[in-house]
Amino acid sequence: MKINLDTSKKQGKISKYIYGQFAEHLGRCIYEGIYVEDGSVKTINGMRCDVVDALKELEIPVLRWPGGCFADDYHWRDGIGDKSKRPYMVNTNWGGVVENNHFGTHEFFELCDQLGCEPYICGNVGSGTVREMRDWVEYMTFDGDSPLACERRENGREKPWKLKFFGVGNENWGCGGNMRAEYYADEYRRYASFIRDYGDEPIYKIAGGPNEDDAHWMETLMERVGDKAAGISLHNYTYEDDWKNKGKAAQFDEDGYYDLISNALKMDGVISLHKEIMDRFDPERKIGLIVDEWGNWFDVEAGTNPGFLYQQNTMRDALSAMLTLHIFHKHCDRVYMANIAQMVNVLQAMILTDGEKMLLTPTYHLFKMMKGHMDGEKLGVSCDCGEINHRGKKLPKVSVSASERGGAVTVSLCNLSLDSDEETEIVCDRVFSDAKCELMTARSATDTNTFSSPETVVPSSLTLVTEGNSVKLTLPRMSVAVITLS
Ligand code: AHR
Repeated sequence: MKINLDTSKKQGKISKYIYGQFAEHLGRCIYEGIYVEDGSVKTINGMRCDVVDALKELEIPVLRWPGGCFADDYHWRDGIGDKSKRPYMVNTNWGGVVENNHFGTHEFFELCDQLGCEPYICGNVGSGTVREMRDWVEYMTFDGDSPLACERRENGREKPWKLKFFGVGNENWGCGGNMRAEYYADEYRRYASFIRDYGDEPIYKIAGGPNEDDAHWMETLMERVGDKAAGISLHNYTYEDDWKNKGKAAQFDEDGYYDLISNALKMDGVISLHKEIMDRFDPERKIGLIVDEWGNWFDVEAGTNPGFLYQQNTMRDALSAMLTLHIFHKHCDRVYMANIAQMVNVLQAMILTDGEKMLLTPTYHLFKMMKGHMDGEKLGVSCDCGEINHRGKKLPKVSVSASERGGAVTVSLCNLSLDSDEETEIVCDRVFSDAKCELMTARSATDTNTFSSPETVVPSSLTLVTEGNSVKLTLPRMSVAVITLS
Protein backbone atom coordinates (compact mmCIF):
# COMPACT_ATOMS: atom_id res chain seq x y z
CA MET A 1 0.00 0.00 0.00
CA LYS A 2 1.28 3.42 -0.91
CA ILE A 3 0.26 6.58 0.96
CA ASN A 4 0.96 9.94 -0.68
CA LEU A 5 1.23 12.99 1.52
CA ASP A 6 0.84 16.46 0.13
CA THR A 7 2.12 19.06 2.59
CA SER A 8 1.14 21.86 0.22
CA LYS A 9 -2.55 20.94 0.57
CA LYS A 10 -3.67 22.19 3.98
CA GLN A 11 -7.27 21.25 4.70
CA GLY A 12 -8.03 23.14 7.91
CA LYS A 13 -7.00 23.09 11.52
CA ILE A 14 -7.59 20.02 13.67
CA SER A 15 -8.79 21.73 16.84
CA LYS A 16 -6.90 20.47 19.89
CA TYR A 17 -10.24 20.33 21.70
CA ILE A 18 -11.11 17.22 19.66
CA TYR A 19 -8.81 15.45 22.14
CA GLY A 20 -10.98 16.49 25.12
CA GLN A 21 -12.07 14.34 28.06
CA PHE A 22 -15.20 13.96 30.14
CA ALA A 23 -15.50 13.21 33.88
CA GLU A 24 -18.92 12.73 35.45
CA HIS A 25 -20.07 12.00 38.98
CA LEU A 26 -20.70 8.46 37.89
CA GLY A 27 -19.48 5.25 39.52
CA ARG A 28 -15.81 5.50 40.45
CA CYS A 29 -14.82 8.20 37.99
CA ILE A 30 -14.52 11.19 40.36
CA TYR A 31 -14.52 9.51 43.77
CA GLU A 32 -11.79 6.83 43.99
CA GLY A 33 -10.63 7.38 40.41
CA ILE A 34 -9.56 11.01 40.75
CA TYR A 35 -10.46 12.35 44.18
CA VAL A 36 -9.51 10.40 47.29
CA GLU A 37 -9.93 11.57 50.86
CA ASP A 38 -9.15 8.48 52.94
CA GLY A 39 -5.34 8.67 52.77
CA SER A 40 -5.02 5.36 50.90
CA VAL A 41 -3.05 6.98 48.04
CA LYS A 42 -0.82 10.02 47.71
CA THR A 43 -2.88 13.09 46.83
CA ILE A 44 -2.39 16.80 46.33
CA ASN A 45 -5.43 18.78 47.42
CA GLY A 46 -7.43 15.58 47.16
CA MET A 47 -6.39 14.63 43.62
CA ARG A 48 -4.67 11.26 43.15
CA CYS A 49 -1.07 11.97 42.17
CA ASP A 50 -0.64 8.72 40.19
CA VAL A 51 -3.73 9.39 38.08
CA VAL A 52 -3.02 13.09 37.57
CA ASP A 53 0.62 12.40 36.64
CA ALA A 54 -0.46 9.86 34.02
CA LEU A 55 -3.16 12.13 32.62
CA LYS A 56 -0.74 15.05 32.32
CA GLU A 57 1.12 13.02 29.72
CA LEU A 58 -1.94 13.27 27.47
CA GLU A 59 -1.82 17.09 27.46
CA ILE A 60 -5.60 17.14 27.84
CA PRO A 61 -6.92 20.33 26.26
CA VAL A 62 -10.35 20.45 27.90
CA LEU A 63 -12.32 18.53 30.53
CA ARG A 64 -16.13 18.38 30.67
CA TRP A 65 -17.83 18.13 34.09
CA PRO A 66 -20.03 17.39 36.15
CA GLY A 67 -22.10 15.34 33.67
CA GLY A 68 -23.72 13.83 31.69
CA CYS A 69 -27.09 13.06 33.18
CA PHE A 70 -25.71 14.07 36.58
CA ALA A 71 -25.43 17.69 35.40
CA ASP A 72 -29.20 18.15 35.21
CA ASP A 73 -29.56 16.92 38.79
CA TYR A 74 -26.63 18.91 40.17
CA HIS A 75 -27.00 22.02 42.29
CA TRP A 76 -23.68 23.82 42.44
CA ARG A 77 -24.32 25.49 45.80
CA ASP A 78 -24.27 22.04 47.42
CA GLY A 79 -20.64 21.68 46.33
CA ILE A 80 -19.00 24.81 47.76
CA GLY A 81 -17.83 25.89 51.22
CA ASP A 82 -16.98 23.84 54.28
CA LYS A 83 -17.03 20.18 53.25
CA SER A 84 -18.42 19.00 56.54
CA LYS A 85 -21.49 21.16 55.96
CA ARG A 86 -22.13 20.29 52.33
CA PRO A 87 -25.46 18.50 51.92
CA TYR A 88 -25.60 14.94 50.70
CA MET A 89 -27.69 13.97 47.69
CA VAL A 90 -28.78 10.78 45.99
CA ASN A 91 -27.15 10.21 42.60
CA THR A 92 -30.39 9.01 41.07
CA ASN A 93 -28.97 8.51 37.60
CA TRP A 94 -26.04 6.36 38.58
CA GLY A 95 -26.68 3.55 41.04
CA GLY A 96 -28.63 5.57 43.61
CA VAL A 97 -25.47 6.05 45.67
CA VAL A 98 -25.15 8.92 48.12
CA GLU A 99 -23.02 11.80 46.89
CA ASN A 100 -21.33 13.89 49.58
CA ASN A 101 -20.59 16.84 47.29
CA HIS A 102 -16.98 16.98 48.47
CA PHE A 103 -15.87 17.37 44.86
CA GLY A 104 -17.46 20.62 43.72
CA THR A 105 -16.61 23.74 41.77
CA HIS A 106 -13.34 24.58 43.57
CA GLU A 107 -12.16 20.99 43.37
CA PHE A 108 -12.96 20.80 39.66
CA PHE A 109 -10.90 23.90 38.90
CA GLU A 110 -8.10 22.52 41.08
CA LEU A 111 -8.15 19.34 38.98
CA CYS A 112 -8.02 21.38 35.76
CA ASP A 113 -5.09 23.37 37.15
CA GLN A 114 -3.23 20.20 38.02
CA LEU A 115 -3.92 18.72 34.56
CA GLY A 116 -3.17 22.00 32.78
CA CYS A 117 -6.46 21.80 30.87
CA GLU A 118 -9.36 24.15 30.24
CA PRO A 119 -12.65 23.60 32.06
CA TYR A 120 -15.94 22.89 30.29
CA ILE A 121 -18.87 23.07 32.69
CA CYS A 122 -22.30 21.70 31.92
CA GLY A 123 -25.14 23.56 33.66
CA ASN A 124 -28.46 22.28 34.96
CA VAL A 125 -31.52 23.00 32.81
CA GLY A 126 -33.53 19.88 33.70
CA SER A 127 -34.02 20.47 37.42
CA GLY A 128 -32.28 23.80 37.96
CA THR A 129 -33.33 27.39 37.53
CA VAL A 130 -32.18 30.25 35.36
CA ARG A 131 -31.08 32.10 38.48
CA GLU A 132 -29.05 29.14 39.68
CA MET A 133 -27.21 28.96 36.38
CA ARG A 134 -26.59 32.70 36.12
CA ASP A 135 -25.32 32.84 39.70
CA TRP A 136 -22.92 29.96 39.13
CA VAL A 137 -21.34 31.79 36.19
CA GLU A 138 -21.04 34.98 38.24
CA TYR A 139 -19.58 33.06 41.21
CA MET A 140 -16.91 31.55 38.99
CA THR A 141 -15.99 34.44 36.72
CA PHE A 142 -16.76 37.85 38.26
CA ASP A 143 -13.83 39.89 39.51
CA GLY A 144 -15.72 42.72 41.25
CA ASP A 145 -17.24 42.93 44.69
CA SER A 146 -20.58 41.25 44.14
CA PRO A 147 -21.89 39.07 46.98
CA LEU A 148 -21.27 35.96 44.85
CA ALA A 149 -17.69 36.91 44.03
CA CYS A 150 -17.08 37.70 47.72
CA GLU A 151 -18.49 34.32 48.65
CA ARG A 152 -16.03 32.69 46.26
CA ARG A 153 -13.22 34.57 47.97
CA GLU A 154 -14.43 33.47 51.39
CA ASN A 155 -14.30 29.93 50.06
CA GLY A 156 -10.65 30.34 49.19
CA ARG A 157 -10.48 31.61 45.62
CA GLU A 158 -9.49 35.24 45.27
CA LYS A 159 -9.35 35.66 41.49
CA PRO A 160 -12.10 34.54 39.15
CA TRP A 161 -11.41 31.42 37.15
CA LYS A 162 -11.09 31.48 33.39
CA LEU A 163 -14.09 29.68 31.96
CA LYS A 164 -14.55 29.48 28.23
CA PHE A 165 -16.93 26.58 27.66
CA PHE A 166 -20.39 26.32 29.22
CA GLY A 167 -23.02 23.76 28.26
CA VAL A 168 -26.68 24.67 28.67
CA GLY A 169 -28.00 21.30 29.85
CA ASN A 170 -27.25 17.74 28.80
CA GLU A 171 -29.33 15.31 26.75
CA ASN A 172 -32.43 17.41 27.31
CA TRP A 173 -34.27 15.05 24.95
CA GLY A 174 -33.70 12.33 27.60
CA CYS A 175 -32.33 12.35 31.14
CA GLY A 176 -32.07 16.16 31.02
CA GLY A 177 -35.83 16.69 31.10
CA ASN A 178 -37.40 14.59 28.31
CA MET A 179 -38.13 17.77 26.37
CA ARG A 180 -39.26 18.24 22.81
CA ALA A 181 -36.77 19.98 20.56
CA GLU A 182 -39.03 23.02 20.26
CA TYR A 183 -39.44 23.34 24.02
CA TYR A 184 -35.71 22.93 24.68
CA ALA A 185 -34.91 25.54 22.03
CA ASP A 186 -37.04 28.07 23.93
CA GLU A 187 -35.52 27.04 27.24
CA TYR A 188 -32.05 27.39 25.75
CA ARG A 189 -32.80 30.95 24.64
CA ARG A 190 -33.99 31.88 28.12
CA TYR A 191 -31.13 30.24 30.06
CA ALA A 192 -28.45 31.43 27.63
CA SER A 193 -29.65 35.05 27.94
CA PHE A 194 -28.54 35.08 31.57
CA ILE A 195 -25.12 33.54 31.08
CA ARG A 196 -23.22 36.80 31.23
CA ASP A 197 -19.69 37.52 30.12
CA TYR A 198 -17.82 38.80 33.18
CA GLY A 199 -14.35 37.81 32.00
CA ASP A 200 -12.18 39.15 29.17
CA GLU A 201 -13.44 36.60 26.66
CA PRO A 202 -17.05 35.75 25.85
CA ILE A 203 -18.32 32.42 27.12
CA TYR A 204 -18.61 29.82 24.39
CA LYS A 205 -22.18 28.62 24.96
CA ILE A 206 -23.03 25.10 23.91
CA ALA A 207 -26.62 24.07 23.28
CA GLY A 208 -27.59 20.49 24.12
CA GLY A 209 -27.75 18.88 20.72
CA PRO A 210 -29.10 15.68 19.23
CA ASN A 211 -28.60 12.04 19.99
CA GLU A 212 -27.03 10.15 17.10
CA ASP A 213 -28.93 10.82 13.88
CA ASP A 214 -31.80 12.89 15.29
CA ALA A 215 -32.04 15.35 12.40
CA HIS A 216 -35.21 17.01 13.71
CA TRP A 217 -33.46 18.03 16.94
CA MET A 218 -30.53 19.53 15.04
CA GLU A 219 -32.74 21.29 12.53
CA THR A 220 -34.92 22.80 15.28
CA LEU A 221 -31.90 24.05 17.20
CA MET A 222 -30.18 25.51 14.16
CA GLU A 223 -33.33 27.32 13.19
CA ARG A 224 -34.28 28.60 16.64
CA VAL A 225 -31.05 29.06 18.60
CA GLY A 226 -28.38 29.17 15.91
CA ASP A 227 -27.83 32.89 16.48
CA LYS A 228 -27.42 32.40 20.21
CA ALA A 229 -25.12 29.38 20.48
CA ALA A 230 -21.41 29.12 19.72
CA GLY A 231 -21.63 25.34 19.57
CA ILE A 232 -24.18 22.52 19.46
CA SER A 233 -23.41 19.20 21.06
CA LEU A 234 -23.82 15.71 19.64
CA HIS A 235 -23.78 12.42 21.53
CA ASN A 236 -22.93 9.29 19.62
CA TYR A 237 -21.83 6.09 21.36
CA THR A 238 -20.71 2.87 19.70
CA TYR A 239 -22.03 -0.55 20.64
CA GLU A 240 -21.11 -3.96 19.30
CA ASP A 241 -24.69 -4.36 18.13
CA ASP A 242 -27.09 -1.74 19.52
CA TRP A 243 -28.23 -0.12 22.79
CA LYS A 244 -30.00 -3.33 23.86
CA ASN A 245 -27.12 -5.61 22.88
CA LYS A 246 -24.02 -3.67 23.71
CA GLY A 247 -21.67 -6.63 23.76
CA LYS A 248 -18.82 -7.38 26.12
CA ALA A 249 -15.74 -5.20 26.35
CA ALA A 250 -13.17 -7.99 26.37
CA GLN A 251 -14.98 -11.16 25.31
CA PHE A 252 -15.83 -11.13 21.63
CA ASP A 253 -15.16 -13.17 18.53
CA GLU A 254 -14.14 -12.15 15.03
CA ASP A 255 -17.70 -11.05 14.14
CA GLY A 256 -17.94 -9.02 17.33
CA TYR A 257 -14.68 -7.32 16.47
CA TYR A 258 -15.73 -6.30 12.97
CA ASP A 259 -19.26 -5.38 14.11
CA LEU A 260 -17.83 -2.87 16.56
CA ILE A 261 -15.39 -1.47 13.99
CA SER A 262 -18.17 -1.18 11.46
CA ASN A 263 -20.37 0.63 14.01
CA ALA A 264 -17.55 3.01 14.97
CA LEU A 265 -17.41 4.08 11.32
CA LYS A 266 -21.04 5.23 11.56
CA MET A 267 -19.77 8.39 13.27
CA ASP A 268 -18.81 9.62 9.79
CA GLY A 269 -22.40 9.36 8.50
CA VAL A 270 -23.86 10.90 11.66
CA ILE A 271 -21.53 13.91 11.47
CA SER A 272 -22.16 14.29 7.73
CA LEU A 273 -25.91 14.30 8.35
CA HIS A 274 -25.67 17.06 10.98
CA LYS A 275 -23.12 18.99 8.95
CA GLU A 276 -25.49 19.11 6.04
CA ILE A 277 -28.21 20.58 8.29
CA MET A 278 -25.82 23.01 9.97
CA ASP A 279 -24.45 24.13 6.61
CA ARG A 280 -27.93 25.11 5.46
CA PHE A 281 -28.30 27.55 8.34
CA ASP A 282 -24.65 28.43 8.88
CA PRO A 283 -22.77 28.15 5.57
CA GLU A 284 -19.75 29.94 7.02
CA ARG A 285 -19.37 27.18 9.60
CA LYS A 286 -19.18 29.48 12.58
CA ILE A 287 -21.10 27.18 14.91
CA GLY A 288 -19.01 24.32 16.24
CA LEU A 289 -20.20 20.74 16.40
CA ILE A 290 -19.23 19.59 19.89
CA VAL A 291 -19.21 15.79 20.13
CA ASP A 292 -19.08 15.94 23.89
CA GLU A 293 -19.88 12.27 24.47
CA TRP A 294 -18.50 9.49 22.33
CA GLY A 295 -16.80 6.14 22.75
CA ASN A 296 -17.52 2.44 23.09
CA TRP A 297 -20.25 1.42 25.51
CA PHE A 298 -20.36 -2.25 26.53
CA ASP A 299 -22.05 -4.30 29.25
CA VAL A 300 -20.58 -3.59 32.67
CA GLU A 301 -17.92 -5.99 33.92
CA ALA A 302 -19.41 -9.00 35.71
CA GLY A 303 -19.79 -8.45 39.43
CA THR A 304 -19.68 -4.64 39.26
CA ASN A 305 -22.50 -2.20 40.04
CA PRO A 306 -24.64 -1.93 36.86
CA GLY A 307 -25.06 1.80 37.55
CA PHE A 308 -21.31 2.39 37.54
CA LEU A 309 -20.62 1.62 33.84
CA TYR A 310 -17.24 0.07 34.53
CA GLN A 311 -15.82 -1.79 31.53
CA GLN A 312 -12.47 -3.21 30.45
CA ASN A 313 -10.58 -1.84 27.46
CA THR A 314 -8.85 -3.79 24.72
CA MET A 315 -6.80 -3.40 21.58
CA ARG A 316 -10.16 -3.17 19.77
CA ASP A 317 -10.91 0.02 21.73
CA ALA A 318 -7.60 1.58 20.69
CA LEU A 319 -8.31 0.80 17.03
CA SER A 320 -11.84 2.20 17.12
CA ALA A 321 -10.60 5.32 18.97
CA MET A 322 -8.09 6.03 16.20
CA LEU A 323 -10.79 5.49 13.57
CA THR A 324 -13.10 7.92 15.34
CA LEU A 325 -10.40 10.55 15.83
CA HIS A 326 -9.66 10.27 12.09
CA ILE A 327 -13.34 10.94 11.40
CA PHE A 328 -13.17 14.06 13.58
CA HIS A 329 -10.06 15.16 11.64
CA LYS A 330 -11.93 14.63 8.39
CA HIS A 331 -14.70 16.93 9.63
CA CYS A 332 -12.40 19.45 11.31
CA ASP A 333 -14.15 22.25 9.43
CA ARG A 334 -17.16 21.70 11.71
CA VAL A 335 -16.11 19.53 14.67
CA TYR A 336 -14.51 21.90 17.15
CA MET A 337 -14.51 19.74 20.26
CA ALA A 338 -15.01 16.12 21.25
CA ASN A 339 -14.92 14.52 24.69
CA ILE A 340 -14.46 10.80 25.03
CA ALA A 341 -16.56 9.16 27.74
CA GLN A 342 -15.06 8.96 30.25
CA MET A 343 -11.66 9.76 31.73
CA VAL A 344 -11.35 7.25 34.60
CA ASN A 345 -13.16 3.99 35.49
CA VAL A 346 -16.23 4.65 33.31
CA LEU A 347 -16.97 3.42 29.75
CA GLN A 348 -14.01 3.77 27.35
CA ALA A 349 -11.67 5.05 30.03
CA MET A 350 -8.07 6.20 29.86
CA ILE A 351 -7.32 4.84 33.32
CA LEU A 352 -8.74 2.09 35.52
CA THR A 353 -8.15 1.99 39.26
CA ASP A 354 -8.58 -0.61 41.96
CA GLY A 355 -7.90 0.82 45.40
CA GLU A 356 -4.34 2.12 45.30
CA LYS A 357 -3.64 0.33 42.00
CA MET A 358 -3.94 2.02 38.62
CA LEU A 359 -3.51 0.91 35.02
CA LEU A 360 -3.33 2.68 31.68
CA THR A 361 -5.68 1.31 29.05
CA PRO A 362 -4.94 0.77 25.34
CA THR A 363 -7.14 3.84 24.70
CA TYR A 364 -4.89 5.91 26.98
CA HIS A 365 -1.83 4.86 24.96
CA LEU A 366 -3.62 5.67 21.71
CA PHE A 367 -4.47 9.19 22.93
CA LYS A 368 -0.86 9.70 23.99
CA MET A 369 0.39 8.55 20.60
CA MET A 370 -1.97 10.94 18.77
CA LYS A 371 -0.93 14.14 20.58
CA GLY A 372 1.00 15.46 17.58
CA HIS A 373 -2.27 16.10 15.72
CA MET A 374 -3.59 18.65 18.22
CA ASP A 375 -3.94 22.02 16.52
CA GLY A 376 -2.16 20.65 13.46
CA GLU A 377 -3.09 21.63 9.90
CA LYS A 378 -4.76 18.65 8.26
CA LEU A 379 -2.88 17.47 5.18
CA GLY A 380 -4.07 15.98 1.95
CA VAL A 381 -3.56 12.20 1.91
CA SER A 382 -4.25 9.79 -0.89
CA CYS A 383 -4.04 6.06 -0.53
CA ASP A 384 -5.58 2.90 -1.80
CA CYS A 385 -6.24 1.53 1.64
CA GLY A 386 -7.77 -1.82 0.69
CA GLU A 387 -11.01 -3.31 1.95
CA ILE A 388 -12.33 -5.89 4.36
CA ASN A 389 -15.63 -7.60 3.61
CA HIS A 390 -17.72 -8.16 6.69
CA ARG A 391 -21.33 -9.38 6.64
CA GLY A 392 -21.84 -7.89 3.18
CA LYS A 393 -20.30 -4.55 4.15
CA LYS A 394 -17.01 -3.14 2.96
CA LEU A 395 -14.78 -1.72 5.68
CA PRO A 396 -11.49 0.03 4.97
CA LYS A 397 -8.53 -2.15 5.79
CA VAL A 398 -6.33 0.80 6.70
CA SER A 399 -7.30 4.25 7.96
CA VAL A 400 -4.81 7.11 7.74
CA SER A 401 -4.72 10.79 8.69
CA ALA A 402 -1.93 13.35 8.56
CA SER A 403 -1.31 16.84 9.89
CA GLU A 404 1.49 19.34 10.20
CA ARG A 405 2.38 21.50 13.16
CA GLY A 406 5.52 23.57 13.64
CA GLY A 407 7.32 21.91 10.75
CA ALA A 408 6.68 18.34 11.99
CA VAL A 409 4.31 16.04 10.14
CA THR A 410 2.28 13.50 12.14
CA VAL A 411 0.87 10.52 10.27
CA SER A 412 -1.42 8.13 12.14
CA LEU A 413 -2.56 4.89 10.62
CA CYS A 414 -4.19 1.67 11.70
CA ASN A 415 -4.54 -1.75 10.14
CA LEU A 416 -7.99 -3.05 11.01
CA SER A 417 -7.50 -6.52 9.58
CA LEU A 418 -7.35 -9.32 12.13
CA ASP A 419 -5.17 -11.49 9.95
CA SER A 420 -3.06 -9.71 7.39
CA ASP A 421 -0.11 -7.35 7.75
CA GLU A 422 0.26 -4.49 5.33
CA GLU A 423 3.51 -3.51 3.62
CA THR A 424 3.28 0.26 3.65
CA GLU A 425 5.19 3.03 1.95
CA ILE A 426 4.59 6.68 2.81
CA VAL A 427 5.76 9.10 0.16
CA CYS A 428 5.92 12.78 0.98
CA ASP A 429 6.39 15.80 -1.24
CA ARG A 430 9.22 16.86 1.07
CA VAL A 431 12.39 15.28 2.36
CA PHE A 432 12.65 14.96 6.13
CA SER A 433 15.77 14.46 8.18
CA ASP A 434 14.15 12.44 10.95
CA ALA A 435 11.39 9.83 11.08
CA LYS A 436 10.11 8.29 14.32
CA CYS A 437 7.40 5.70 14.77
CA GLU A 438 5.41 4.39 17.71
CA LEU A 439 3.48 1.22 17.12
CA MET A 440 0.95 -0.62 19.27
CA THR A 441 -0.44 -4.05 18.56
CA ALA A 442 -1.45 -7.14 20.50
CA ARG A 443 -1.56 -10.88 20.11
CA SER A 444 -5.35 -10.82 20.18
CA ALA A 445 -7.90 -8.02 19.77
CA THR A 446 -9.29 -9.04 23.17
CA ASP A 447 -5.97 -8.32 24.93
CA THR A 448 -6.34 -5.94 27.85
CA ASN A 449 -4.13 -4.42 30.50
CA THR A 450 -4.98 -5.83 33.91
CA PHE A 451 -3.85 -4.94 37.41
CA SER A 452 -1.71 -8.08 37.48
CA SER A 453 -0.43 -7.56 33.94
CA PRO A 454 -0.65 -3.82 33.23
CA GLU A 455 1.67 -3.75 30.22
CA THR A 456 0.16 -6.32 27.88
CA VAL A 457 -0.91 -3.69 25.33
CA VAL A 458 1.60 -0.84 25.17
CA PRO A 459 3.26 1.05 22.34
CA SER A 460 6.89 0.56 21.37
CA SER A 461 9.28 2.37 19.05
CA LEU A 462 9.74 1.01 15.57
CA THR A 463 12.77 1.70 13.44
CA LEU A 464 11.74 2.95 10.04
CA VAL A 465 13.38 2.40 6.69
CA THR A 466 13.71 5.88 5.17
CA GLU A 467 15.02 6.81 1.76
CA GLY A 468 14.74 10.37 0.49
CA ASN A 469 11.10 11.31 0.77
CA SER A 470 9.89 7.76 1.33
CA VAL A 471 9.31 5.84 4.57
CA LYS A 472 8.60 2.11 4.63
CA LEU A 473 7.17 -0.05 7.36
CA THR A 474 5.22 -3.22 7.90
CA LEU A 475 1.93 -2.35 9.54
CA PRO A 476 1.03 -5.49 11.48
CA ARG A 477 -2.50 -6.84 11.47
CA MET A 478 -4.60 -5.11 14.15
CA SER A 479 -2.17 -2.32 14.92
CA VAL A 480 -2.03 1.45 15.33
CA ALA A 481 1.05 3.45 14.37
CA VAL A 482 1.95 7.11 14.62
CA ILE A 483 4.87 8.42 12.58
CA THR A 484 6.51 11.78 13.15
CA LEU A 485 8.49 13.26 10.28
CA SER A 486 10.63 16.29 11.02
O1 AHR B 1 -21.59 8.88 29.76
C1 AHR B 1 -22.65 8.24 30.38
C2 AHR B 1 -24.00 8.87 30.11
O2 AHR B 1 -24.31 8.74 28.76
C3 AHR B 1 -24.11 10.35 30.34
O3 AHR B 1 -24.37 10.68 31.66
C4 AHR B 1 -25.27 10.73 29.48
O4 AHR B 1 -25.19 12.06 29.04
C5 AHR B 1 -25.22 9.72 28.36
O5 AHR B 1 -26.44 9.14 28.14
